[in-house]
Amino acid sequence: MTARPEHLLHTLRAQGQFCGASGSPMYDELFELVATDVEDGGVFASILSGHEDDSARHAVPLRLLGGLHRLVLDGRAPALRRWYPSTGGSWDAGAAWPQIKASATEHADAMRAALAQPPQTNEVGRSAALIGGLLRTNHEFDFPVRLFEIGSSAGLNLRAEHYRYRHAGGGWGPADSPVTIDDAWRGPPPPAGAIRIAERRGYDIAPVDVTGVDGEMTVLSYVWPDQQARLDRLRGAIAIARKVPAQLVRQTAAAAVAGLTLADGALTVLWHSITWQYLSDDERAAVLDGASALGARAGARSPFVHLTMEPARNGPDSPLRFLVRARRWPGGELVVLGECHPHGPPVHWQ
Ligand SMILES: C[S@@+](CC[C@H](N)C(=O)[O-])C[C@H]1O[C@@H](n2cnc3c(N)ncnc32)[C@H](O)[C@@H]1O
Repeated sequence: MTARPEHLLHTLRAQGQFCGASGSPMYDELFELVATDVEDGGVFASILSGHEDDSARHAVPLRLLGGLHRLVLDGRAPALRRWYPSTGGSWDAGAAWPQIKASATEHADAMRAALAQPPQTNEVGRSAALIGGLLRTNHEFDFPVRLFEIGSSAGLNLRAEHYRYRHAGGGWGPADSPVTIDDAWRGPPPPAGAIRIAERRGYDIAPVDVTGVDGEMTVLSYVWPDQQARLDRLRGAIAIARKVPAQLVRQTAAAAVAGLTLADGALTVLWHSITWQYLSDDERAAVLDGASALGARAGARSPFVHLTMEPARNGPDSPLRFLVRARRWPGGELVVLGECHPHGPPVHWQ
């Protein structure tokens, strides 16, 4: 292990600050405790050994605490349940920390194995950005939708039209949905049309099948445990996923886009959220080239939309912004539709 793993310490603390700013004081505190433990050469230094220089896009901090949360959820670390709000507990950093270190020591192999898994953060709230963007682009076409998603994880956002989106002016989506997204939209809401999804297929290098208990635990483990609304949304979306089928394919984003086709009489949509940061520069270029190539083949009866909710910066030192953007063909002009929280709501439409 390097003497002072500056890069790792920076990614742990930056992730903690991001969690704190995004509504998880628990992970803000926990990442700071983990970082200090790494500085002191404690159990987390040993678990993270060999990952000191991993690229930020591998999101090592989220893999680490996702692995720990999984131990709490599936009962392998029962002593931590009383500290994790996701299992009915109440977070207390000072009291929990000695037991967290003890559980991490006992399950060090499982924690190290978790570092090999890409984070499977399924954020159903991002459906507010994606379906709203689709309502904005779809209303001119009025075709059934063939929906394809890269980095789809468990494919929960592929069922976005089954969720209820509330906003100051009303709501959209089935009123009896087990998934309710409050304060989904601000500004002029998207047109309240109907969306008919004729086909839904997700692509991911590590797709998760949430129809089984193991997959359910996996996706729950990546939610920050003190975020009850996100956990509720996720549990509701898993219930819907068990009724509304979507095909999940284990494939890279670049290979998936290279294999897409258009269809006469249908709107083909490629969408993705919080996936871009996980792709290499080459893969990003391949996805953009693939989308442009599809767009070049689009026609009035076979339109194509590339819709994204991904981070962007105005300049190298500017803060991250989470933008909802679309390119639709024929035409292919890039349009910024709105801006949102990293987990979706509220989406501010332009
Ligand atoms: C942060 S999750 C986002 C999941 C979902 N899109 C959402 O917004 O809730 C990123 C997903 O990208 C997947 N992923 C990472 N690299 C990928 C690649 N090269 N090709 C396809 N999927 C990839 C991961 O397995 C993970 O499921």
